Amino acid sequence: MLTQRPRGTADILPGEVEQWQAIERIIRDTCAVYHYDEIRTPVFEHTELFARGVGETTDIVSKEMYTFVDRGDRSVTLRPEGTAGVVRAFVENKLYGSAQTVKLYYIGPMFRYEKPQRGRWRQFHQYGVEVLGAEHPAADAEVIAINVDLLRRFGLRDLTVELNSVGCPVCRPRHRETMLERLRPVAERLCGDCQQRLERNPLRIFDCKNESCQRVVAEAGAPTILESLCDDCRGHFEQVRAFLDAMGVPYTLNDRLVRGLDYYTRTAWEVTVPGFSSVGGGGRYNGLVAEVGGPETPGVGFAGSIERALLVLREQGAQLPDGAAMDVWVAVADETAEIAAMRLLQQLRLAGVRADRDYLGKGLRAQLKAADRVKARFCAILGADEVARGVVTLKDLTTGRQWEAAADEVVAYVRGGMQE
Ligand code: HAM
Repeated sequence: MLTQRPRGTADILPGEVEQWQAIERIIRDTCAVYHYDEIRTPVFEHTELFARGVGETTDIVSKEMYTFVDRGDRSVTLRPEGTAGVVRAFVENKLYGSAQTVKLYYIGPMFRYEKPQRGRWRQFHQYGVEVLGAEHPAADAEVIAINVDLLRRFGLRDLTVELNSVGCPVCRPRHRETMLERLRPVAERLCGDCQQRLERNPLRIFDCKNESCQRVVAEAGAPTILESLCDDCRGHFEQVRAFLDAMGVPYTLNDRLVRGLDYYTRTAWEVTVPGFSSVGGGGRYNGLVAEVGGPETPGVGFAGSIERALLVLREQGAQLPDGAAMDVWVAVADETAEIAAMRLLQQLRLAGVRADRDYLGKGLRAQLKAADRVKARFCAILGADEVARGVVTLKDLTTGRQWEAAADEVVAYVRGGMQE
């Protein structure tokens, strides 16, 4: 046990961590391009926030939360997703006070007690954005666009945006009534889960993976929510689609798409690649800010996980960065050069040159091998002779050429400002 990490968690080791850094860099750069500011919220929150925000009947809240009572007898939960915490922070810090739309992004660990499997972890890292205070359908289109743009910039191919509208407090209750009317008489033909869904949240029946349930729904003539939208929701959805068309963001309609969180209103989507259910998804949540105790404020956002993005990239055979590059490996040919070597090493590093050395007291040949192993571009060799003459033997490890440089010219050589 002591040497085993908990199931569903991962150590991200050097060699792989560079891939994470590359992804995180793309997220930060892209969010800047779309004018989003970063927000960092706590990894745990009061349990009530997720119960109310994400919804008591969702799998996340009913089965998957890491909930515990702290030493002060409060129930707290490791965040299973990012939106509820961001909305809580928006309300608590009165970010609604600014006249502007608030556009935030986040990257961080989330926790769900799910059955670990391909692409499914118990600790995973979501990146996501939330736009608060914009009712305009252009905001939905922007969030879908950044969702797709990010995945493309990571290098993912064959993306599909599956798009739906899940209605609002006007059309949803009407749709629910029709669902109940049509499905109650045939309820015994639905699976046990769907029989419960019928009473609690009939929309979720469309999400059932059981083909027989889908057949029952079709035979009973139960309408999809997309067919049952009120005029406002229909108009909003048409505009979102028009914006997406104008922006060149392709999508397919999926009128069965129901996301696993209760806060969605109107636009909902998932981005898929062949062989993967979801590499990201999101939607509009116009009731969530008020649900959490803030003023009526519309919201729209999405999230994806770095784990799943990297998994798909690997399976699609994408080029991923490995190991950090090294500029100069400082090799110490004999003990009397130690002082000069440390002086040079520090000089290089203060100048922003990536440099390192061996600390195991190895011979010169082994030190040169180490330089190759870390893929250093140059090796700077210092022995008694070099120290006495104030020079360094520089070896270009890509060409194998070797020459002498004045000790204070090494930085210039490495930067390409001087040729041998
Ligand atoms: P979600 O669909 O539950 O939505 O999660 C978003 C993404 O996180 C998924 O598409 C998937 O890529 C990734 N993901 C979820 N669970 C796991 C897991 N166990 N292991 C690895 N990756 C996982 C949300 O969380 C919403 N907060 C998204 C949102 C933001 N909606 C509006 N704003």
